[in-house]
Amino acid sequence: MNLLRKTLITAALPYANGALHFGHMAGAYLPADIFARYCRLKGRDTLFICGSDEHGVAITMSAELAGRTPQEQVDHFHLVNQDLFKKLNIKFDHYSRTTWPGHKKFTIQFFEDLMANGFIEAKETFQLYSEEEKKFLADRYVIGSCPRCGFLEARGDECQKCGASYEAEELKNPRSKKSGSTLILKKTTNWFLLLDKLRDKVEKWLEEKPWKPNVLNFIKGYLKETHPRAITRDTSWGIPVPLKEAEGKVFYVWFDAPIGYISATADWAERVGTPERWKDYWLDPKTHYVQFIGKDNIPFHAVIFPAMELGQNIPYKMVDDLPANEFYNLEGRQFSKSDGWTIDLADFLTRYSADQIRYTIAANAPENADSEFTWKDFQSRCNSDLLGKLGNFVNRVLVFTFNHLEGRMPALTPHEEDESFLAALKTKVGEIENHFEHYQLRKAASTLMELAHLANCYFDSQKPWMQIKQDKERAATIIACSLKAIEALSRIASPIIPDTAAQINLFLNLPLEEGKTLNKPHILFTKIEDSQMEEEIKKMQATPPVVVQAPIEPLKALIGIEDFDKVDLRVGLVLHAEKVPKSKKLLRLEIDIGLEKRQVLSGIGLQVTPEELIGKKVVIVANLKPATMMGLESQGMLLSIVGGPELKVLPADLSPGSVVV
Ligand code: 2FM
Ligand code: ZN
Repeated sequence: MNLLRKTLITAALPYANGALHFGHMAGAYLPADIFARYCRLKGRDTLFICGSDEHGVAITMSAELAGRTPQEQVDHFHLVNQDLFKKLNIKFDHYSRTTWPGHKKFTIQFFEDLMANGFIEAKETFQLYSEEEKKFLADRYVIGSCPRCGFLEARGDECQKCGASYEAEELKNPRSKKSGSTLILKKTTNWFLLLDKLRDKVEKWLEEKPWKPNVLNFIKGYLKETHPRAITRDTSWGIPVPLKEAEGKVFYVWFDAPIGYISATADWAERVGTPERWKDYWLDPKTHYVQFIGKDNIPFHAVIFPAMELGQNIPYKMVDDLPANEFYNLEGRQFSKSDGWTIDLADFLTRYSADQIRYTIAANAPENADSEFTWKDFQSRCNSDLLGKLGNFVNRVLVFTFNHLEGRMPALTPHEEDESFLAALKTKVGEIENHFEHYQLRKAASTLMELAHLANCYFDSQKPWMQIKQDKERAATIIACSLKAIEALSRIASPIIPDTAAQINLFLNLPLEEGKTLNKPHILFTKIEDSQMEEEIKKMQATPPVVVQAPIEPLKALIGIEDFDKVDLRVGLVLHAEKVPKSKKLLRLEIDIGLEKRQVLSGIGLQVTPEELIGKKVVIVANLKPATMMGLESQGMLLSIVGGPELKVLPADLSPGSVVV
């Protein structure tokens, strides 16, 4: 590997529709920033690019809720997120946005090339249309009755009651979420990316990619099922499709967003006054290109965008490494602003430093499995590691230097133990570099603490406070070695805790030279008290959910007693419950209904944990025809009480098998 290779780093462009939280930071932006800082440290030609993803339904919906126009919404959150990145010391070379005018040109070039090369085709489809609003409605604007369980308020893409997923067109009695008006199916033309035609190219390109097994397995499965995907939408917010016959249509956000990586680099090049310089990164096959993303973005980055690149004509650089992180949760649950289960990052940073949270996230990064922020872990990492190991070593060495050696860098006349300490230091630094090189932040952070521990042990074992009384030269050497250790520690820690490293470098008055005066140190980290953590936890638990007034469901049509009699409701005892892998909300339950044991799937995993269900008595529809979800058969339906976003499993008190009438 060329250690001085030119490196282009991007991090998934976040939607400009809300303030980013720790979960986002841990998934893509902090790992990317740490890697970028590491590359700069190694003297690589490094370019770190990101920007706001400003098109799509996610934007228009949130804008409507906020009472803003889509443009006002993205203008607002572009600044909010840019500011959060700054506060957290995420240092992009440029943070662009997909509404900057130059982005269009790149999107259109992709579209025209893919079209000319036969990889895009127009197709007629039927889509839900509101005659009242005079427009086609995207999934998220539609509600209706679930085609599976009949739930009246089912969302446009999946049913929050039974977990079924479907196309909006399959909903029964589809209605506009906004106006409640009835929707009709209307013919429309959209343009489709023929992913099936590009599959071979993608498979060939993917050969021998040294990516994480979870990523590769996912892609292989995904590639098997590639089918043409619509890349245009009947809406007005987005980049207009440049065809006469496509008036009123824009590109689907996931078509233009990844092209944003290229256009954002061009935006950077223009701003730094060398408009052609983006080509040095994107058109040079020697560039090493690393994309940092969260795991939910894998298909778009590993299959769809590469397919788009392979199907157009410009030899843009394709991704070399795709570090995809799992989810970072908050105290056992997903971060959710609407549930009030969140920490306001800007507010957090008024009480704690960016380095404290950067280190905490790095040390427990969701690299191979979901991980979580807990206040206890935060406190312990800040107090035991940052303060106890790193801060303490820096402080005791510098204070000693000022108290006994006039605050100057002493002469170094090393003994064997000093040489072996310095050699061990070098080995540890090499290990940390290797971890950074492979995006292994957990290991980098723990090895960093091993390095600080090693340095503390050296200091303790050499006892400079004793030596200073008997052999000043020896004490001076111990301190000189310790100061060199601080320099090494600070340098290699700088990608994770850049502010602290900068502070330390000021104390050291770099470069370290014999006789040179250092600067008086001050405390790098203050202790986080238990009482502070208790307060934080209380505050977090007291954050109210964002209340969305749920409409009360209209009553269903009358039925006769004979209809109701057909439904066999039984009490069941939940013997076992678990999450269905790869599904956000499906739970698999084993339920004893007295006569037999049933496997029941239920889409309640966001509101109820498996642990809450085990041992509970519930009510199930016992004579519902079996249905298959995520490859598993469901032999019944669990009854719950649903009120807007709230859901409670209906409790039952009698023995399994009892009939509910
Ligand atoms: O998931 C998201 O937040 C998307 N806005 C990520 C886009 S990544 C890239 F393609 F722009
Ligand atoms: Zn349903």
